[in-house]
Amino acid sequence: MKKSRILGVGHYVPERIVTNQELTEMMNTTNEWIVERTGIQERRWFTPGIDTVTSMSKKATEMALERAGVSAKEIDFIIFATITPDYFIPGNGVLLQRELGMGTIGALDIRNACSGFIYGLSIADQFIKTGMYKKILVVGAEIQSSALDKSDEGRSSSVIFADGAGAAIVGEVDSDQPGILTTHLHAQGEYAEELYCKDPGSSREVRLSPELIESGSFQLKMNGNTVFKHAVVRFMEVINEALVANNLNKDAIDLLVPHQANLRISQYIQQKLGLPDEKVFNNIMYLGNTTAGTIPIALSQAWEQGRIEEGDLICLAAFGSGFTWASALLRW
Ligand code: UT7
Repeated sequence: MKKSRILGVGHYVPERIVTNQELTEMMNTTNEWIVERTGIQERRWFTPGIDTVTSMSKKATEMALERAGVSAKEIDFIIFATITPDYFIPGNGVLLQRELGMGTIGALDIRNACSGFIYGLSIADQFIKTGMYKKILVVGAEIQSSALDKSDEGRSSSVIFADGAGAAIVGEVDSDQPGILTTHLHAQGEYAEELYCKDPGSSREVRLSPELIESGSFQLKMNGNTVFKHAVVRFMEVINEALVANNLNKDAIDLLVPHQANLRISQYIQQKLGLPDEKVFNNIMYLGNTTAGTIPIALSQAWEQGRIEEGDLICLAAFGSGFTWASALLRW
């Protein structure tokens, strides 16, 4: 059976830097609180009229294609992970396909929030293993800043979420080559409303109205404490699940790339696994939490910085809205 491997990664983040100081002008918060509770010093927010989910993911994809040495025409399928598509309908995959001139290849959108990229990678891995496709583009991209409650009420979430895009080219290799070892996907719908955006919901008589807008129900709502408590447990579980499935010890991990939800979560996992700083990649300090974007952006930056070498064992792990959580182990 064939195997799949990440051939190249790329990313793009909007130019606009939003510092913690800038947030203090919008809501009752402080630089000290944000740094201490989240580790974030600044994040990127999109510029309306310039950045879109499609434009950012196009730039991320172009970088990934170049690094993979693959042309857009060689891509067989697109998997697009986002919960903030440019349109309500259709999804973002087709918009990217059009922008990149990728003919009539299939485009699948997935809405698994922070776990979206790993879910997408897993889908790509299955398609490649079965021989259905040879080269798949997997994207994770979000514009969160336009649906954040920037009032005092929404401050605990609005200080963490941000905008950006990452992309990976996943290609077929022979089974004796390095590549994706296993992926592990989980969900627990009973916690759906702990981190969600209710509207525009389809089961309402009218999806969108001035009253709904006034109520703020189109904005992201998160019960941060509950999410945090579940995240630390599930991250550990799903990383251990991947290690056990491959009969590997935690010391075998060369680089852990956790979803960038909160620096305290990453540090907790690092400490539980007993990993030194050089084996964990974090960029939340400068980019915030870009939901489905965090892992491909982090992979791309880690690769750029020489933190990933051929043959390294890379562990990806994520947790977020749904709840959904996931991990992947790969040989680079
Ligand atoms: O990526 C998807 C998954 N998401 C996550 O994994 C996020 C998980 N959760 C978190 O990262 C954290 O829960 C938050 C960063 C969202 C919040 O941090 P926290 O330490 O859980 O704060 P809290 O909500 O428990 O609030 C503690 C205090 C409260 O004040 P009182 O009631 O103790 O007086 C809040 O009102 O901090 C206050 N607070 C703030 N103060 C200044 C909440 N947000 C802020 C703020 N600035 N931005």
